[in-house]
Amino acid sequence: TQPEVVFSGIQPTGVPHLGNYLGALKHWVGIQDAAPPESTLLYCVVDLHAITQPQIPDDLRRRRRETLAMLLAIGLRPERCVIFEQSKVPAHAMLMWILSTLAPTNLLARQTQWKTKLAASEERSPLDPDGVSKLKLGLFSYPVLQAADILLYKTTSVPVGEDQVQHLELARNLAGKFNRAFGKTFAIPQVKLAPAKRVMSLNSPTTKMSKSGPANSQINLDHSEDEIRKRIKTAITDSISGITYDPENRPGVSNLVEILGNMTDRSDWEAVARECEGLSMKEFKERVADSLVEGLAGIRKEYTRIVAGDESYLDDLAKSGAEKANMMADETMQTVMRAIGM
Ligand code: ADP
Ligand code: NA
Repeated sequence: TQPEVVFSGIQPTGVPHLGNYLGALKHWVGIQDAAPPESTLLYCVVDLHAITQPQIPDDLRRRRRETLAMLLAIGLRPERCVIFEQSKVPAHAMLMWILSTLAPTNLLARQTQWKTKLAASEERSPLDPDGVSKLKLGLFSYPVLQAADILLYKTTSVPVGEDQVQHLELARNLAGKFNRAFGKTFAIPQVKLAPAKRVMSLNSPTTKMSKSGPANSQINLDHSEDEIRKRIKTAITDSISGITYDPENRPGVSNLVEILGNMTDRSDWEAVARECEGLSMKEFKERVADSLVEGLAGIRKEYTRIVAGDESYLDDLAKSGAEKANMMADETMQTVMRAIGM
């Protein structure tokens, strides 16, 4: 069998939050630590994706650095992984264009993330028939760029959160279409879900925790102990007594149970809830906060150290990551261009 190629990405749209960590980043480190030496691991700061929502250039510059720093702070090792920025590898945009000529618009229109943004835009301006047109082509074609990111490295495995599963299905679909039309070129990538498939917002536990969510709904990986305790304390739960795991009827409590389980490396949520059965809500929240304070302290410390350190360190890291990624990408693109007759 072929050696594994692992690819995943994160948008530089803010300091990564607990959902990013438990749904993706923590898993990336686990994969790194278990990976056989012949496998290739690529972790990408997807800045071209970030600009599908308006970005202030100076903020984007800062956040690209912060995101790179966080990838190191969580424990990814640049000697083992190719850590790089999407915009420094032009082939991502080139392959996206080619794949876009195979991507049915009705499939794109069916993507949940697109539909959610469309619905929100219609809600914001119900009387404005042009309101919808404020959404841009880049946002619509986002999953095609994501497919290009993945296929460019002949990726076999993509560790992401559950919110990305539908996009991955599209990437698989496009790989199959290309292979059938032009000869076998791409591996069909598999999704690898972390045990924490979906971490929910702290103040609206039926929606996912997201960088674009309201303040107070997230725990960010650079939060202080006080901030973490405050946010867990004010997390929405319910007034039912006792702690149980019941996502449907008790989404807030169940989200905290999952967080506690993930922070202490357990995935049997019912068992985690049973251990907390007799606690009051206040005591339970303290236990959840303790697990976060303890589990995130090392990351925060390392992150602070890197961000305060020598600027050229991150620049050099990004440069050497881009060189490696460009070499792999160019090789794939030669095959792709030849296959389509260019
Ligand atoms: P965001 O959605 O917050 O902007 P990204 O799009 O940069 O984050 O996603 C980076 C990774 O984090 C993806 O693999 C995504 O699936 C994962 N992820 C994002 N939010 C969550 C969440 N609430 N729970 C689990 N995984 C998540
Ligand atoms: Na996302």
